[in-house]
Amino acid sequence: MKRIKTGITGLDELMEGGFPEKRAILVSGACGTGKTIFSMQYIYNGAVKYNEPGIYVTLDERPELIREDVTRFGWDLRKLEEKKLITIIDGSVARIGMPSDEEFSLPMTGFDLDKLLLEIMRVTKRMGAKRAVIDSIPALGFNFENEQETRKAILKLSYMLMRIGVTSIMTSEIQEGAAKFGRYEVEEYVVDGVVVLHYSGIGGGGTNRTIHIRKMRATKHSEDLHPVTIGKTGIKVHGIEEAYDES
Ligand SMILES: Nc1ncnc2c1ncn2[C@@H]1O[C@H](COP(=O)(O)OP(=O)(O)O)[C@@H](O)[C@H]1O
Ligand SMILES: [Mg+2]
Repeated sequence: MKRIKTGITGLDELMEGGFPEKRAILVSGACGTGKTIFSMQYIYNGAVKYNEPGIYVTLDERPELIREDVTRFGWDLRKLEEKKLITIIDGSVARIGMPSDEEFSLPMTGFDLDKLLLEIMRVTKRMGAKRAVIDSIPALGFNFENEQETRKAILKLSYMLMRIGVTSIMTSEIQEGAAKFGRYEVEEYVVDGVVVLHYSGIGGGGTNRTIHIRKMRATKHSEDLHPVTIGKTGIKVHGIEEAYDES
């Protein structure tokens, strides 16, 4: 099976070299655990390290803020967007009925799942995307009246991502210590892998952050909680015995 490398230091070797190709992975964790940084790092590394174009669908944050935030890690998204290695689709404004000044966005007439799916397909084909991110599922769910509709949307979305053959990440927010991995308790069933980011906030030296590969189909993966730092170059995963000191 071909592997799609995250390129995140310390992570790929914990799962036989990367995500299984053309599958969907859920990245789950409480707010501030680094889900957005993790998924953008996956897309960024795809573009700069592996020459694999990627699509980032942001339903939560405005693209402009994401671009600005990640300059802290030295990532120049604009440059990669111009090279057609990254496309950011702005789905953050449709739900509030605001116009977007982005090149790729949803119409301001309101959220429309089918339009979003079409846009993802169109862009994937045009740029030859190998990677995709949907950030986040709860923000997607915000557009639906009830959880049943949201679940249907998640199913449709994950099916479409599989059909177009991209290796994708969906993010979902859960409370720390929750006994589920996705907000709607359907996400974990439609994906082939679940990666959980934790933030204990207990304090002490080192880091409060850990990562856990909870499920990865067709993969022998680490079952441990690994320390994580967010530093000058983004997210890094550390060995359990390793001393980590990164500011
Ligand atoms: N430049 C940085 N250096 C260190 N930590 C950072 C930096 N930027 C963000 N963070 C950490 O990452 C968190 C935000 O990560 P984000 O991916 O947006 O979380 P999530 O999407 O899970 O809510 C911040 O709360 C902060 O703790
Ligand atoms: Mg986020």
